[in-house]
Amino acid sequence: MANKMTKRIVVAGGAGYIGSHVCVELLTGGASALVIDNFSNAHPEALNRIRELASGDLEFLECDLADPAQKDTIIGAVKNFRPDGAVHLAGLKAVGESVEQPARYYRVNLGAALTLIEALEAADAKKLVFSSSATVYGDRNQSPVDESGLTGATNPYGRTKLFIEDIAKDIARSDDEWRVVNLRYFNPVGAHPSGRIGEDPNDIPNNLFPFIAQVAVGRRDKLQIFGDDYSTPDGTGVRDYIHVVDLARGHAAALNYLTTQKTGGAVDINLGTGKGFSVLEAVAAFKRASNRDIPYEIAPRRDGDIAEIYANADRAEKLLGWRAEKTLENMCADHWRWQSQNPDGYKA
Ligand code: UFG
Repeated sequence: MANKMTKRIVVAGGAGYIGSHVCVELLTGGASALVIDNFSNAHPEALNRIRELASGDLEFLECDLADPAQKDTIIGAVKNFRPDGAVHLAGLKAVGESVEQPARYYRVNLGAALTLIEALEAADAKKLVFSSSATVYGDRNQSPVDESGLTGATNPYGRTKLFIEDIAKDIARSDDEWRVVNLRYFNPVGAHPSGRIGEDPNDIPNNLFPFIAQVAVGRRDKLQIFGDDYSTPDGTGVRDYIHVVDLARGHAAALNYLTTQKTGGAVDINLGTGKGFSVLEAVAAFKRASNRDIPYEIAPRRDGDIAEIYANADRAEKLLGWRAEKTLENMCADHWRWQSQNPDGYKA
């Protein structure tokens, strides 16, 4: 398709973990990207690495989408870029922090989304792929969970995801030129197989894979496994881990889907593998991939965690022609390559 080669995409949060992989995927596919990022949880070096991995037109605007004082600058730059659409991945994402600072989470996450939507309106580029999360399913569904699952977030971070999904749906209802895909990610892990881009958490990692990787590389003594008394096969929590490169391909597929839609509207789509693995299985796989010891201890359950969640990913296959291809072994090997080659993330 000719339009595949000419796409111009705004990538809000494009310097972050998932955003950097999305940029590589888009540029490699022939698109041009305008990254908007304020480096609140990202590093400028990621942009150099993206350029190293993918030739193509990558523009950058250092701005805070949630800052009202920067709104006019952002709208001007987006109009100037003449985009076809946007991927929105900018926002705060730490569950625990969101419980302590709910107002900040609502202000930043909702404010950023609204500014981006206004900028796309002003640029007459009414196509949006939003980075949502399986967290919107809360704790009330049996797995595999499909997109008709009950929604209901259990913390402010999750509620910002649900609110933004709903805002995007209202926008799509108000104007039939708008086309929206809310991508509900399961648990993104891994890194680009080159080892050049990957996840570089601020402070102590909240999530399992970056924590395991830092234990394997010797930055931390041991992993705490939060609970081994869940009603799962080995008692530890079960999640649907998805390789970040598969996830990035899902964004490109979602943009292509929006381009081919004759009518407007919004649709929610799960991005997961459809398979669940326990914490102990993930630890064992990482140990094999890294050939390092991963000491751990069993700790109490973490507040807000659920026993098990994994995706029904049929809709992604049906609408986007996408399915996850990479295995847990690929996820661990690539995550380890990134961690071992960049033990201190981008800072070195
Ligand atoms: N876990 C540990 N030890 C750790 C970290 C995690 O045992 O140090 C366990 C958790 O209890 C869970 C599994 O590993 O069973 C996965 O935990 P993550 O924190 O990696 O992922 P979550 O499934 O909790 O998080 C996901 C998304 C978040 C989202 C959250 C909502 O990554 O963005 O679901 O619950 F907000």
